[in-house]
Amino acid sequence: MITIKEINVEKTYPLRIEILRNGIPENYHFVGDKHKETIHLGAFLDNKCIGIVTLIPNSHKTFPNVSTYQLRGMAVDKSLQKQGIGKLLIDASFRFLKEGRKYEILWCNARIIAVEFYKKMGFSIKGNKFQIPKVGSHFLMYKVL
Ligand SMILES: CC(C)(COP(=O)(O)OP(=O)(O)OC[C@H]1O[C@@H](n2cnc3c(N)ncnc32)[C@H](O)[C@@H]1OP(=O)(O)O)[C@@H](O)C(=O)NCCC(=O)NCCS
Repeated sequence: MITIKEINVEKTYPLRIEILRNGIPENYHFVGDKHKETIHLGAFLDNKCIGIVTLIPNSHKTFPNVSTYQLRGMAVDKSLQKQGIGKLLIDASFRFLKEGRKYEILWCNARIIAVEFYKKMGFSIKGNKFQIPKVGSHFLMYKVL
């Protein structure tokens, strides 16, 4: 059975490097990783962390005067993708953000390959495609909490 729980940022590093940085240990620390309101969630199978996501309180110029969280570092072990683990992590993210926190929007910079996944999770695209150096094309996506 897969369980989702809050984890320390250090536990996110192996999957961030392997899945999001193609095994190259560069740029895998995020601004806000250690903010007191940042939430790191892990999906576990037999005590092994097989999926991660990080939620950071962070504003975005597209959503002025609104309290927003940014979703970052979303990754699922390669051999276990498309089996519902990403959805479990997103559902848990919504639950965590709704509990006691007064945030209105969750936004993310979605890689092109993940846009359909985020759409299925209820996110919408805002604006045009843009580039993030060394990572590629992205869309800003958001979900009203
Ligand atoms: C994107 C990612 C996190 C999704 O996690 P996952 O566990 O594979 O997703 P799920 O199995 O929970 O998928 C939920 C739904 O989205 C769909 N989906 C998932 N990834 C998809 C994709 N790349 N394209 C189209 N649909 C996708 C699934 O088919 C499923 O649809 P269904 O409910 O109709 O069956 C994962 O595939 C991953 O780690 N990819 C590589 C890293 C990455 O791109 N991260 C995002 C950075 S912005």
